[in-house]
Amino acid sequence: MSEDLTGRRLGHYKIDGVLGRGGMSVMYRATDVRLGRKVALKVMGEHITGDGEFRERFVDEARNTSAIDHANIVPLYDFGEVDGMLYIAMRLVDGSDLASLISEGPIAPNRAVELLGQVAEALDTLHEQGLVHLDLKPANVLVTSREASHEHVYLADFGLTRRGATGHRTSTGDFLGSPTYAAPEHLRGESVDGRTDLYALACMLFACLTGGAPYKGEVQEVIQGHLQLDPPRVTSRVALPPAIDDVLRRGMGKTPEQRYGNCKELVAATRNALSPLGKQGDQPPRPAAPEAAPSASQPPPSGPHPMSSGPVPPPPHSQPQPTAPPGTPPGGMPPPGPPAGAAGGPGAPVGPGAAPGGTPPVGGPRQPMPPGAPQQGPGEPVRLRPPMPAQSASFAKKSDSTARWLVPVLAISVFTVIVVILIIAFG
Ligand SMILES: Nc1ncnc2c1ncn2[C@@H]1O[C@H](COP(=O)(O)OP(=O)(O)O)[C@@H](O)[C@H]1O
Ligand SMILES: [Mg+2]
Repeated sequence: MSEDLTGRRLGHYKIDGVLGRGGMSVMYRATDVRLGRKVALKVMGEHITGDGEFRERFVDEARNTSAIDHANIVPLYDFGEVDGMLYIAMRLVDGSDLASLISEGPIAPNRAVELLGQVAEALDTLHEQGLVHLDLKPANVLVTSREASHEHVYLADFGLTRRGATGHRTSTGDFLGSPTYAAPEHLRGESVDGRTDLYALACMLFACLTGGAPYKGEVQEVIQGHLQLDPPRVTSRVALPPAIDDVLRRGMGKTPEQRYGNCKELVAATRNALSPLGKQGDQPPRPAAPEAAPSASQPPPSGPHPMSSGPVPPPPHSQPQPTAPPGTPPGGMPPPGPPAGAAGGPGAPVGPGAAPGGTPPVGGPRQPMPPGAPQQGPGEPVRLRPPMPAQSASFAKKSDSTARWLVPVLAISVFTVIVVILIIAFG
């Protein structure tokens, strides 16, 4: 995005620098000159200020951010408009986001439980108020150690938050968001609730413990993973107690009914599953020991398991291993997977605009984006083709190719009938 207001004044805010950029807004570090305090200032992109739908969405974001007073939700200070530009001023969190932490490798299990426990507190409160976040990913979880003796977490970015039961769509019916952490019902355009966020929280747990998102690859592979594959086992990537695989399998259940009742339950089950680690859980987990070579009929050990493949085989040895598997880089990270899930860290969008080595668009151009819209960078929501109705082969290309056949065949048939009628009439 070429827009950079650094050094300029926006009302009583002096813009000091860029904190992050999305497709629809830029997050700045700024100073409220009246109060002399530092703030995080989200300014709607100039290129979309004329778009009514985006303006409405931005106003919704401000309302949703201010709707919940919670210690783990970033507090909103101010909302307004200057020179046609909408802005939201909020507490400046002096730290980093979870995506940056995960990009350095797996997080110590005890730390992951502590951080996600705070996210769960925020989410359950949100859900009790009838809201669903719908854009839960590591880039939207802010972490600071400057405010207390322990690390404090703020849930941020309520740009896609919804009240009510419908999945998020634009006026043209596009799915809006990153599929990397999206629940099956959200990808399908079915109704969503707190358990939709719970699924994303479970995916984040997976990413914290292993250093990578559960499903990686091209956009369609990621989506098909969420829709059709069993979650990959955490223990196939890092050495942790096997019970964690059961927690993830339930947290990432394909239907909301299969999951935990609320986010705190998921975290409590995680804490329980990882408790055998004790103090050892203060260290990042080591890579899992290489498994025996799989037989031809079995999927690769570190990959997701097709749902039809029956029960997941017993997990590997759960004790830390002294040596890393072949191909493991220094630092204990498991071997990198395909580009999309890893591009820009696990929170990166898998889709158009994804980072280097990333993925081509599946949904064609991002149509609702007005002319002059900038390239999207890592961590930003992407628009995908409108999800297919439930039960259909969602996002599959099959219907397209059928349509391609049908059009010429129908045209030829109609033409033949007209010729026959003309021959009969005038012949
Ligand atoms: N209150 C804040 N304090 C400090 N950094 C923030 C704050 N809110 C967001 N950020 C940083 O800016 C990035 C973009 O902000 P976000 O609200 O998620 O915008 P977008 O809608 O573009 O994703 C976040 O991923 C985070 O790294
Ligand atoms: Mg964000």
